[in-house]
Amino acid sequence: MPNTGTESNILPREKIVGKEYYVDSDSFDDRDGFIWFDGEMVPWRDARVHVLSHALHYASAVFEGERVYGGEIFKLTEHTERLAESAQSLGFQLPYGTAEIDAACHEVCTANAIVDGYVRPLAWRGSEMMGVSAQATRIHLAIAAWPWPSYFSPEARMKGIRLQTSEWRRPSPETAPVKTKAAGLYMICTLSKHAAERDGFEDALMLDWRGRVAEATGANIFFIFGDDTLHTPVPDCFLDGITRRTVIGLARDRGIEVVERIVMPDELDRATEVFLTGTACEVTPVGSIDEHTYTPGEITKVLMEDYEKTVGKQPADAVSAA
Ligand SMILES: Cc1ncc(COP(=O)(O)O)c(C=O)c1O
Repeated sequence: MPNTGTESNILPREKIVGKEYYVDSDSFDDRDGFIWFDGEMVPWRDARVHVLSHALHYASAVFEGERVYGGEIFKLTEHTERLAESAQSLGFQLPYGTAEIDAACHEVCTANAIVDGYVRPLAWRGSEMMGVSAQATRIHLAIAAWPWPSYFSPEARMKGIRLQTSEWRRPSPETAPVKTKAAGLYMICTLSKHAAERDGFEDALMLDWRGRVAEATGANIFFIFGDDTLHTPVPDCFLDGITRRTVIGLARDRGIEVVERIVMPDELDRATEVFLTGTACEVTPVGSIDEHTYTPGEITKVLMEDYEKTVGKQPADAVSAA
């Protein structure tokens, strides 16, 4: 059984690299602004739930992560549709339609004056029942948004992040709705990421239950093995990310061959370039996985640039590394 690393609970904030997840206050529940909550725009600090909410006890919640670039939410409707599919996979229906949720995401960005930022819709079961069965619980929906500027210049990002292979694995599709953004699945991701951070790495590489390379804790993974072909694991037990699909399209537009196949850990030492894709990390070069090192090269760079152009990111967004 992997070590749960409880000491990682006391890692000082400055040692944690994913600081983009922090807002400009001590805690996410304590800042100015507004959160869209069950159809109303409420002051940020008032967006609260009861401790006897089913979701808190039994992980009956689903969420999305979206990016706003220059006032536009990238692939908003795809995200909203995925939220509805995730909810469906947990046996509930969202109380609002796709167009209403899209409009609410825009409203919350306007209310908080977000031009470049992050949007977090969340749907969960309420407190009408407190037990494994949750048939009669009310479904809630909230949407928050906060600013998210780029912290690192393209040059700093090209150094690549360091990954550690996790001892925790992605489960098989028979055990959970593994291809969704159901909150419960992120227990494994948090355990893996905490272990990696405790050991001085930025993120974890997760294998699946068969021992195949799967993904990082919140991003998909791509490999180049010394030629012009991109290789990426088949998403049969993890999220087929919207960014993953976007980058596959961008690569093919450039005539780069993309192969979706089984990737085994013993191939990691032959890779020449490795990168992650995700709404949060965009296209992020990987500098090492465990003892294997990589030099992010031309294909990674070109796809980073193509992705930035596609999402409408301005080069001026990129400021010097903090
Ligand atoms: C576990 C996991 N894998 C992959 C991704 C990448 O998905 P996307 O590109 O849709 O953000 C995410 C982020 O949503 C994630 O949480």
